[in-house]
Amino acid sequence: MHLHAAEKIWLRAGVIMLGCFMAIITVLALVDGVVPPSSGTTIDPNLVSKTPPFDHPGLHRIGDHEYEAYYVAQVFSFTPSEMHLPVHSRVVFYVTSPDVVHGFSVPKTGINVMVIPGWVSSVRYTFHQPGTYLLLCNEYCGASHHLMSGKIIVE
Ligand code: CUA
Repeated sequence: MHLHAAEKIWLRAGVIMLGCFMAIITVLALVDGVVPPSSGTTIDPNLVSKTPPFDHPGLHRIGDHEYEAYYVAQVFSFTPSEMHLPVHSRVVFYVTSPDVVHGFSVPKTGINVMVIPGWVSSVRYTFHQPGTYLLLCNEYCGASHHLMSGKIIVE
């Protein structure tokens, strides 16, 4: 097959660029200690149901209008599936997964994190508006991904 000289130059440039990108990704992953976004701590995904506080997921009051919410995301539900909060609650959500990658997203808020097995993802939010907030998985996680949802009721 005959290739024009300009095509050969562009092919070589493409291969060199691919090599550079692979090298950068490898260096960042292995040397620079890159971790998933929003993830602070690690957890054994096989022991989520036995690891406090994820052995009893739910809402923990830590102060005046201050809460910590522990969630387990698994195929195809969130535990707890429903959470009640007083209005003006400041909440730090901690979410982990024992199986596959999920999403933890509450539309129209800033809550949107990827939940990766082996990691605890966290996000904080203050609920100033009462109402029923939909909690959604926005990472495709299997055949019933579209059914994976929950509710946060602020009253
Ligand atoms: Cu969990 Cu999609």
